[in-house]
Amino acid sequence: MEKKDIKWSEIGFGYMRTDYRFQAEWNDGKWSEGGLITDDKITISECAGVLQYAQTCFEGLKAYTWKDGSIVTFRPDLNAERLQRSARRLMMPEVPTEMFMRALDETIKANAAWVPPYGTGATLYVRPFLFGSGPVIGVAPAPSYIFHMLVTPVGPYFKGGIKPIVICVSDYDRAAPHGTGDIKAGLNYAMSLYPGQLAHSRGYAENMFLDAATRTNVEETGGANFLFVTKDGKLVTPKSSTILPSITRRSLVHVAKEYLGLEVEERVVPFDEVKDFVEIGVCGTAAVISPVGEIDNGDEKIMVPSGMEAMGPVLTKLRETLVGIQMGDVKAPEGWIRKIL
Ligand code: PLP
Ligand code: COI
Repeated sequence: MEKKDIKWSEIGFGYMRTDYRFQAEWNDGKWSEGGLITDDKITISECAGVLQYAQTCFEGLKAYTWKDGSIVTFRPDLNAERLQRSARRLMMPEVPTEMFMRALDETIKANAAWVPPYGTGATLYVRPFLFGSGPVIGVAPAPSYIFHMLVTPVGPYFKGGIKPIVICVSDYDRAAPHGTGDIKAGLNYAMSLYPGQLAHSRGYAENMFLDAATRTNVEETGGANFLFVTKDGKLVTPKSSTILPSITRRSLVHVAKEYLGLEVEERVVPFDEVKDFVEIGVCGTAAVISPVGEIDNGDEKIMVPSGMEAMGPVLTKLRETLVGIQMGDVKAPEGWIRKIL
């Protein structure tokens, strides 16, 4: 199979229309079989639950081309599970794991020419989503739903690849206690657009959100969890019921302990402690691991000791091991890799 003629190493994190997508509909209490379609337009009621009351959630994962040309995905079972959790919280029907995996296999296989080749730094981003498509006018769950999975080739999420970024503490909150911060609801991202734009207009790559209840503890950014490294080389990552349980972060905790022999602490991280860490990064499917070089909180500027030139040594090792596993160059733990082709 011939790959598309694209300058893979130059692409950014954007949408490119690919050839096929998967779609299934939920009506009268059951899912249709679903299958591949070529039409990238979706027709729904003007009064659809998603349009009126933001009844929608999504996932994000990637497909990678290995050196031998095979195409794989990384821990998609956890994405299927998280989509089900999001669906339950938003009163939507769960997408069965069987359908999620079938959609994944079929969509990636059909778009194999769009999966960036090994060694280009680009990957195929997979975006599954679920939304209320049927009409509601009173506040209620929609009577029908669409599950759709699209794919698009992507490069690095942050401009400059793995150069350290500068972020700021947001004056806005991302998620309320007992709210929807721990699911991947579209509404969490809609409300982050304004603080995101504000941060960008002031020259910051991202926001650091603090916990809404006390505004004293670190939560996450708009699209990634935090990683911190202590002076004595421990990996610390915030524990909170209002952040998204990142699959990348959960995988890195395992990699840190089992591959690199690091001590790991998953715990509340007071913002006051941030100045004491020697390396800081954000992690997620899109971000992989991106280093943070500076954090501004109003007039206070925290310069991370690892500096603005490169990622620190501990995060570098974590990144190399994780990417090695995803790219087939490091042996993966049992069950982490799903081979597609
Ligand atoms: N936090 C938020 C708010 C996100 O949107 C994402 C991206 O999915 C993550 C964290 C990272 O999660 P994952 O590693 O599962 O992609
Ligand atoms: C991902 O990492 O997959 C995400 O969904 C983050 C998003 C903000 C691009």
